[in-house]
Amino acid sequence: MNRRFSLWFAPLAFCVALSAQTILVKPYVQSGHQPISGAADSKVITWLTDTQPGRFEVDFGATTNFGRLTQPIVTALNFGKEGSYLKYTAYIGRLPLDGQFHYRVRLENEVLRAGTVVTRKSATNAVEFVVVGDTGDGKADERKIAFQIGRAAPEFAVIVGDIVYPRGTVKEYLKNFWGPYNNTIEASPETGAPVMGTVPFYGVLGNHDVGASNLATVPDGLGAFYFFHPPRNGPPPLRSHLRVRGTDLQLAEFKRAAADASPHLGFYSFDNGSVHGLCLDANRYVDFTEPALLEWIRADLTRSRALWKLVFFHHPGFQATLAHYREQQTRVLAPLFEECGVDIAFAGHVHNYQRSQPLKFKPAQAKPDRAGEVNGVFTIDSRFDGATNTVPQGVIYVVTGGGGAGLYKPSVEELDPRFQPSAENWTPFTAKYIADRHSFSVVKADPQKLVLRQLDEDGFEVDRITITKPAPITPSLKPATTKALPAVQGLPSGARSTN
Ligand SMILES: [Fe+2]
Repeated sequence: MNRRFSLWFAPLAFCVALSAQTILVKPYVQSGHQPISGAADSKVITWLTDTQPGRFEVDFGATTNFGRLTQPIVTALNFGKEGSYLKYTAYIGRLPLDGQFHYRVRLENEVLRAGTVVTRKSATNAVEFVVVGDTGDGKADERKIAFQIGRAAPEFAVIVGDIVYPRGTVKEYLKNFWGPYNNTIEASPETGAPVMGTVPFYGVLGNHDVGASNLATVPDGLGAFYFFHPPRNGPPPLRSHLRVRGTDLQLAEFKRAAADASPHLGFYSFDNGSVHGLCLDANRYVDFTEPALLEWIRADLTRSRALWKLVFFHHPGFQATLAHYREQQTRVLAPLFEECGVDIAFAGHVHNYQRSQPLKFKPAQAKPDRAGEVNGVFTIDSRFDGATNTVPQGVIYVVTGGGGAGLYKPSVEELDPRFQPSAENWTPFTAKYIADRHSFSVVKADPQKLVLRQLDEDGFEVDRITITKPAPITPSLKPATTKALPAVQGLPSGARSTN
């Protein structure tokens, strides 16, 4: 068994009901609110029960002898007729980078879960992680993907939105998400894998995750805010933050019970190894021209010294499927990404896999039009192939929305004449388009290169690229003479600009 994916249990660990409690969500690991950089890591271990209180404790330490002990904080979640729960949260700090720790959650002598978790990597070490979107619809394909993610044994994962369907409620999490990714005992294509017991997942808000933001109508809406514990390094309160509605009492309860994630889940960033990850809410209520938001994004990306700068959001600006084609609001960020040296922008929303050629985009308008479209000027790097030419000239946009929800198959090229591409809105930037199977992205990054692989629901690799940085020019070397490269068959020579 892979070291990074080892859950080990005492004999009674598989009982869902411990004493008088019913364990609804088994203990799982979150990244916690660790500083974006620094000499130590922290993690959060959290779980959910019914309303019967229990005196749980968490042992942890560098060996299976543990040596450190903490009591969780208990948070009551009260949703009236939609259910009530107790959430337990244990905060674990002062963990050394580049290491691992063992933990055990127990109720007196009964062990509920135990596992081994790797800590964050320092900047010179390799890190491997997965990215996937559009996961929790409760169907068989979600469980296959969860199983394959378990086999990939990542150090962390990012779910790029639409974590749970259809409205992101707590009840839907219990029905559609926790089983395949955490509660299952066995790891199999039929059940998923208990991957979240050892692997922290970062959540990004998709449209379904905020599908019930009026708590007066859906009291247990916005489940993501109770289950994810993102770093709290986002911008100050913005117009672009999600507006939660409900009665005064509900809003006060939400503020109390979701304090770890609200509003932090909308915008935050993290470092791990040579990777800087920036997570953005891209729902339609977000105004990507809001100065304070742009200022925060620019400062976050500019401040980072990480070699690889990756951005994660739900709504792809550059993709070629009819579904959601017009929701191009994130295109207005393209110049900022280029200015700040973003390497890859990952999205979901569209239920398939698409990888663009490296591109630069100059919007012709400050804001999306009423339909959501953003026209502009494309410059496409057609020379990059990720194998023989590994230095992209521009940002690579990846859609990895094949996490389990029903696939979107057709591409815009094949469809309604209303969606015929025009030079100022769509050019053939698509390098890879895989829509006949579910899939997820695996990224391995180190100080020399970044390798992006796409694995399908059976674990087969369906795409792979390698990215490297240009070699630094040293004073002892003469600059190379610029020469026109020979044209690659079937592709124009050099970057192309259309307008
Ligand atoms: Fe979506």
